[in-house]
Amino acid sequence: MTGRRPIPDRSPQHLYGKSRRDQTIRLYNKFVDGYIRASTLINRHDVVSKEGPEHSLVLVVRERRVEAHDDNVVSLVLASPDGSDLPPWRPGAHLDLQLPSGRRRQYSLCGDPENRSTYRIGVRRIPDGNGGSVEIHDTLPIGSTLEVKGPRNGFGFAVPGYGSPSKRLHFVAGGIGITPILPMARLAQQLNLDWSMTYTGRSRDSLPFLDEVESFGDRVTVRTDDAHGLPVAKDLLADVAEHTAVYCCGPTPLVSGLLEELRGAVDIEFHFERFSAPPVVDGVEFEVSLARTGEVVTVPADRTALDVIRERRPNIAYSCQQGFCRTCIVHVLEGQPEHRDNILLDEDRERGEMLVCVSRSNGGRLTLDI
Ligand code: FES
Repeated sequence: MTGRRPIPDRSPQHLYGKSRRDQTIRLYNKFVDGYIRASTLINRHDVVSKEGPEHSLVLVVRERRVEAHDDNVVSLVLASPDGSDLPPWRPGAHLDLQLPSGRRRQYSLCGDPENRSTYRIGVRRIPDGNGGSVEIHDTLPIGSTLEVKGPRNGFGFAVPGYGSPSKRLHFVAGGIGITPILPMARLAQQLNLDWSMTYTGRSRDSLPFLDEVESFGDRVTVRTDDAHGLPVAKDLLADVAEHTAVYCCGPTPLVSGLLEELRGAVDIEFHFERFSAPPVVDGVEFEVSLARTGEVVTVPADRTALDVIRERRPNIAYSCQQGFCRTCIVHVLEGQPEHRDNILLDEDRERGEMLVCVSRSNGGRLTLDI
């Protein structure tokens, strides 16, 4: 690291002051066997986003741009209708979009936190997904309005020299996973930190914001499947040594591969955000009673309660499927949940709240108020 500059006003979150939502882990030699569970989250701290109170906003789509040459990613620039300043945010933050259909979806902010007049998000079209991205691509032209909550931050960024004990940074982005990473890289560049990035995807045509990423020069390695073959974790971590903080956003297999590779690594922080639900680990089969109809469903050991409940209640609300957005919250009338989320407070749990996308039971039946 070269000279240290004054930290901007909206300084990065301190590693030791982050929210419970954060998925930070620090991997030590004594990394325990088993998968990544609470017992290995050495740096998980009590923290909710430092973005401030939750805001409910109505925003206008001011610009739309195709951001990947294969046309599958668009960016939306959002602003308040009267042009007033928007709530501040830090790298890693996301917005909750309430779509006209009623769907709620989270998208990372990928613009410049210094720009208070607009937010920018990037949306990959997923034709066989749950409809949110297609709705955004097809039904939100310039001038349309939508309701937004946030910004919130479940992927806090602790900067070496300003809160993190690490000495350098390495970013790994898989495709649309570049969106939370872009503002982090910009801040690292602005602070003249020692950093590098591996940006990976199917092909150059599929990679959004490629021009912006490549403007960082030789700090960035672009690695595509069609040119280099499918990546293995070692390829993506080529610059990683002791005292490095790794920030990764991408599909679940990519994140899981890095977790496995870093198992046992000394003095490396690993922070990640993934696109989709993680696999269920160490689950046992249990029953859920849906109190409003009396139906009883069985949740197999390798599926989530949400997954199974959706077969009977297709309209049940959900979004992130990773236990951080609270959309799938339900009230437990009977039974003892095994909480696997990182966001409910003790008082929420004592009131009987449960996030069915990740939390489950150790075997006993749960009766839910749905
Ligand atoms: S769907 Fe986001 S917490 Fe369950």
